[in-house]
Amino acid sequence: MATSPITARPPAPPLPPGAPLRAGSVPQTFQNPTRVITGEGCAAEVGPHAARLGATRVMVVSDPGIVRAGIPTAILDSLHSCGIETLLYSHVEPDPRIELVDEALKAYRDFGGELIVAVGGGSAIDVATATAILATNPGPLRTYEGWEKFANAPAPLFALPTTVGTAAEVTPFVVITDAAAKFKFTIGSPKAAPLIAFLDPFLVLGLPPSITASTAMDALTHAIESYTSLLSTPISEGMALQAIRMISTHIRAAVANPRNLTAMNGLLIGANIAGLAFSNTRLGNVHATAHPLGAFWKIPHGIANAIMLPHVMEFNALACPLRMVEIAQAMGEPVAGMSMAGTTEHEAALRAVGAVRRLETEIGIPARLGDLGVDRASIPDMAADAMKSANIAINPRLTTINEIIRLYEQAM
Ligand SMILES: [Fe+2]
Repeated sequence: MATSPITARPPAPPLPPGAPLRAGSVPQTFQNPTRVITGEGCAAEVGPHAARLGATRVMVVSDPGIVRAGIPTAILDSLHSCGIETLLYSHVEPDPRIELVDEALKAYRDFGGELIVAVGGGSAIDVATATAILATNPGPLRTYEGWEKFANAPAPLFALPTTVGTAAEVTPFVVITDAAAKFKFTIGSPKAAPLIAFLDPFLVLGLPPSITASTAMDALTHAIESYTSLLSTPISEGMALQAIRMISTHIRAAVANPRNLTAMNGLLIGANIAGLAFSNTRLGNVHATAHPLGAFWKIPHGIANAIMLPHVMEFNALACPLRMVEIAQAMGEPVAGMSMAGTTEHEAALRAVGAVRRLETEIGIPARLGDLGVDRASIPDMAADAMKSANIAINPRLTTINEIIRLYEQAM
């Protein structure tokens, strides 16, 4: 009897080892363990939620600027009104170092803390998360670099973002600087994501326009890199596109007037959605090249991303032109029907790059690394560190170290 065409079909050829695959070709997980609470004034819910967990001593982690602005007051009041004792640890600095986490841990242990509440931007939430990890795991911190390297569930953690970018309030990643090695390392685990994120737009109202611009560009970069990541899935893609739409819709109005509640709330939620997406897909060459710019030259994370973003998008357009067209569309570019009008797919894809460049000029992002004091001589060392990033392997276009060097040079 003749073999049917179906059973005669040869098995699919094995893929090269380590080949990154698109969604559907390998089993993939979409996981976001954090409960997200949104709404004006939701910071007042921190106390009742802490009490429900049975906490009686809570350490609030923040930075001096946030404390000067009086932002933690509502949260401390909410905890006190539930009969909870608090300790305010407010020494967080940008690009937090390992030593700072050790100091925060000592404060938490001396106080006898049972829950940590982070109030701030990515740095405060990263310090709080790293402290929560070390509260239940022996350390040292750098031994947990990588994915799922620590065993015990961290101390319970709530997070309240005061910027509109990092989405550290929902991501399972912590970025800490090893100052001696001039290296920013990442610790990742689903266990590292906060228990509850409170997105209260009152906490970001009045954010200085330069901080809104740089942190929102970090968020837009998360959304774009998640959308083009080789690990993207239909679930993450929907979130990434929605984040691109929301951030593009609100970013100009929020930079123009930080008291615009609708715009600031739109950015806060858009950045959070981008975080939910990239938690599951990782990022790409923009973040791989931005971290060394922070470690070597202290360039704020959002600015480093914003400067690298159009160069990497131009580089990636060859690999995923259709996705770039969809990004352009989500940013409000009139790309529909362009191919009918004789425009090539690649030309349409580059509309996304143009949209990003135009936006960055309008909101006052510096265009060149050279203007921020970056020395060309550091490029080979930065490129070597960028290549160590786990984001390189899932960038849509295969990337060599020479191409990373070229991207840095273009951005100079
Ligand atoms: Fe980022």
